[in-house]
Amino acid sequence: MLFYAIISIVISKIKLGVLKDFNMLIETATKWARRYMLGAGQEFVFKHIDDIELPRMDKIDLYIHIPFCKNVCPYCPYNKIKYDKKLVKPYVDAMLNEIEQYHRRLGEIEIDSIYIGGGTPTNLIDELAVILKKIRESFILTGDIAIETNPDDINGEVINKLKRCGVTLLSLGVQSFNDKCLVFLGRSYKANILSQVATLALSSNFESVNIDLMFALPGQSISDVINDLRQSFSLGADQVTLYPLFTFPYSAAGKYLKLKRIKMPNIFTRRKMYKAIHQFCLNSGFQRVSVWGFKKDNVPRYSSVTRDCYIGLGAGAGSFVSSAFYFNTFSIREYIKTLSSGKLPVALKMGVGKKLSRYYWLYWRLYDTYIPKKYFKELFGEEDKKIYRLLWLSKILGLCREETNQFSLTERGAFWLHLMQNYFVLNYINKVWSVAMKEAWPDRIKI
Ligand SMILES: C[S@@+](CC[C@H](N)C(=O)[O-])C[C@H]1O[C@@H](n2cnc3c(N)ncnc32)[C@H](O)[C@@H]1O
Ligand code: SF4
Repeated sequence: MLFYAIISIVISKIKLGVLKDFNMLIETATKWARRYMLGAGQEFVFKHIDDIELPRMDKIDLYIHIPFCKNVCPYCPYNKIKYDKKLVKPYVDAMLNEIEQYHRRLGEIEIDSIYIGGGTPTNLIDELAVILKKIRESFILTGDIAIETNPDDINGEVINKLKRCGVTLLSLGVQSFNDKCLVFLGRSYKANILSQVATLALSSNFESVNIDLMFALPGQSISDVINDLRQSFSLGADQVTLYPLFTFPYSAAGKYLKLKRIKMPNIFTRRKMYKAIHQFCLNSGFQRVSVWGFKKDNVPRYSSVTRDCYIGLGAGAGSFVSSAFYFNTFSIREYIKTLSSGKLPVALKMGVGKKLSRYYWLYWRLYDTYIPKKYFKELFGEEDKKIYRLLWLSKILGLCREETNQFSLTERGAFWLHLMQNYFVLNYINKVWSVAMKEAWPDRIKI
């Protein structure tokens, strides 16, 4: 009750125009929360750097970024350009060179998993085989290979090539089975191709096939979203990820919506949608595995984000290693040029202090919607009183519950976390991305 009272006061103030700029409010609230939890000492600044610090390690995860799309969607915030055949070979050669440089520095260590994202990785379907072969020759690949795909690119030949490359987890970027939503999103295909494409992917013996859907789209009703879920399940998807349309002001999506004067669904509609999604997934035998994802019990989880330590390959790829975040240059030409001169294309670094790295870990456990007590206690001990206060408050507000071995986020908790992710965290990422997309080698980006 108290929680909703606070939220409705804030919303009514926004409506009354007292707090005109919602984003400014969010930024201020974030700064306070940051200062309260971490103290004033932790800087949130990415600084220019031209190398990466690599400790000795036995294994790591890899992220591969393929920044080419045949159709550039107006809402998309990711680092990508329109497919340009001339750039493909130089880009792939640069990536082979990047793999070689990491191999020289890390030795033949184990690769625990590979995630191939973009852009649209299937645009470089033949080149992916070359990249993965190079990784297998340089390291010991033991884990899954997951890939993002666009329904427009999927056919029998592409599926066979993905299988031959060793891809085990596939995600199909359906977004919606509704033509009205696909038109709004500027997707290049119609809904009538989707059942054939999904059936092909789902009958090809991947360990799991995830379907990406989007919700909180302008004009989309709750029954539209439930219908998208119903179609995904009836086609046989064993996991689904539902992203709300991210709309931070500086992103492509933000500008697109402003340009078209489109109004986003309000917080109450969003709340109802989120609840309906949760209930429909549970009733269909799916369990929640993240704030945005649901899966069947018996399949390995498809996830793009929850890895503790990873190296990103490709233009704009991020890494988290040795208590620091890094980004490669976002410029595809500079990425190619730098690697051809024998250097790594690392452009930005933000060090992560001890306290922040604990919160970073906690953030991803919250994203998973549960926190194992054992690790929580090992990491936080008894010393960080603020975290225990926060847990206590979350329980009172019905955002999380305590179980024997873990703290679990409730459905309400998951909703507020998804909202926080949309406004706080992605806002941070988007600030870094929007500067890095303009300047190949930014000097400093404060978030
Ligand atoms: C990088 S895209 C990759 C897949 C492929 N390029 C495609 O579009 O189908 C990964 C997923 O991010 C989600 N996405 C992209 N832009 C988004 C936005 N502005 N808000 C929310 N989700 C978004 C979509 O669901 C998409 O499937
Ligand atoms: S949403 Fe996917 S296909 Fe569309 S521009 Fe972004 S990465 Fe490319």
